[in-house]
Amino acid sequence: MTLSSASLITLPQPSTNGGLTLEQAIAHRRSVREFEGGSVSLAQLGQLLWAAQGVTHPRGLRAVPSAGALYPLELYAIAADSGDIEAGVYHYRPDRHGLDRLVEGDFRSRFAAAALRQTWIERASVILVVVAVHARTMAKYGNRGRRYVAIEAGHCAQDIYLQAVSLELGATEVGAFSDAAVSRLLRLPEGQEPVTSIAVGQPFSEHPP
Ligand SMILES: Cc1cc2nc3c(=O)[nH]c(=O)nc-3n(C[C@H](O)[C@H](O)[C@H](O)COP(=O)(O)O)c2cc1C
Repeated sequence: MTLSSASLITLPQPSTNGGLTLEQAIAHRRSVREFEGGSVSLAQLGQLLWAAQGVTHPRGLRAVPSAGALYPLELYAIAADSGDIEAGVYHYRPDRHGLDRLVEGDFRSRFAAAALRQTWIERASVILVVVAVHARTMAKYGNRGRRYVAIEAGHCAQDIYLQAVSLELGATEVGAFSDAAVSRLLRLPEGQEPVTSIAVGQPFSEHPP
């Protein structure tokens, strides 16, 4: 069901003092595709989004670098129902560290189908989709801007991976999907294109962080 007006969900303040060192997070990072099926909390979801695109400087600079500080990436979350977040499609607002809920309902299976039927994704708790507005960067850098946007999506995905390790969550990047099907699922406006995605969930205990 499409919501008539988006209502902002304020995310808990992100932590800047996690339990693992950066080196430990890098050393333990693996792609994890087997999930317990539980959900991630609103605080964990907020932490992942903050790592990916959160504002970390009074002038609006963000956790990941961006060519010309133009920030061409938008983050969407396809979330399962959890105690503190309802199933739905959400859009992250870095300026408010909040989420707009765009659509109600559990769209994980539809995303898995769009991702060339990678059925393991259905058991993820949340799928973060990195979407690009190429025009923001290409207006300044021309065709080179397309490359910059792809590089930035990589920064974003790596931060999500490392943040997931630190939260003892499992994550796997999913680059294999139909752009058209994912754009339809997210109801992306003109000019926004999905670049990559990361499925995150509670890992089985044989995958400790
Ligand atoms: C750009 C990119 C796209 C990827 N797409 C998929 C995917 O669609 N499905 C999948 O299961 N893994 C995907 N992966 C994860 C890789 O398979 C994984 O990183 C690789 O096997 C190395 O394992 P590691 O991440 O545990 O080091 C992708 C990784 C990258 C960097």
